[in-house]
Order: sequence, then structure tokens, then C-alpha cells
Amino acid sequence: MKKILIINGPNLNLLGNREDDIYGKDSLDKIKSNCEKKGIEKKLEIIFFQSNNEGEIIDKIHEVKDKFDGLIINPAAFTHSSIAILDSLRAINKPKIEIHLSNIYSREEYRKKSITSEGVHGLICGFGGNSYLLGIEAIHKLIYK
Ligand code: DQA
Repeated sequence: MKKILIINGPNLNLLGNREDDIYGKDSLDKIKSNCEKKGIEKKLEIIFFQSNNEGEIIDKIHEVKDKFDGLIINPAAFTHSSIAILDSLRAINKPKIEIHLSNIYSREEYRKKSITSEGVHGLICGFGGNSYLLGIEAIHKLIYK
């Protein structure tokens, strides 16, 4: 079975009680279990990871090289600032998708630029928790094209 890593960046551990008008009412645990169900449907093993620490996220991206068949990442606020995460994404030669709960292009000016998306195959944003499930559909298509 192909293994997909889903990385979640800073503050996403607070989902459910963090600006729920923007990010929805689902906790990260609920999103995780929805992703695992989708994974079973698509015959993909889903491994979920969250960190508030840039270095830990980079170390985890490096693991994709040898341990995973694809990567889905919501870099959260690092999306708009982290050249270090972009460089680590560029170093990984596997299917990669960036996702966001909110539509970053309809929000504040400083969220309209995604630096990290320059290192992935595609970007899905604006569908709340469903962005994750659409990400799984998209990575499945990239793997089995
Ligand atoms: C986010 C969008 C980012 O701008 C923000 O910093 C987040 C969440 C999203 O999923 O909509 O933390 O990545």
C-alpha cells in the first residue's frame, strides 16, 4: 500500500477553537480521522503529523525521500514566509500537494503569496476540511496517473 504523509504546520493543533468562522469547527483529530477514512477508500496509508516548529517540519519533509510515496502539506503561516520549507520541498522528488482550509487569495494581502507552493505540484485551498480530502484525491491521481 502506498504511504502518504500529511504535514500540518503551526497553530493547526488549535483547530476547532481557533477562528472557527475562518477555519471551521472540526478539530485536527476529526480532520485526521476523515483523512484516514478517505485513505482506506483510496487504498492509501495516511500518516498525520503536526508541529509548531519549522525545523521539525523540515526534518519530516526529508523523511518523505525514503519513507513515503507522497506528501500533502498545510504549512499554515510558514506558507507565507519560509524559504527553508520551500527548499526542503524542492529537494523531494515525489508527488506533493499544498492545501489550506481557507482561500488564502481572498484574505489579507500578506496571505496572498504562497512561497512554499513553488515547491509542490499543485495547491488546493478554500474548502475547509474538505481541502484535505481533495488533496488525497489529487495525490492519488498523481501517483496512479
Ligand atoms: C492556513 C492559512 C494560513 O494563512 C494561516 O496562517 C493558517 C492556516 C489555512 O489552512 O487556511 O494557519 O494554512
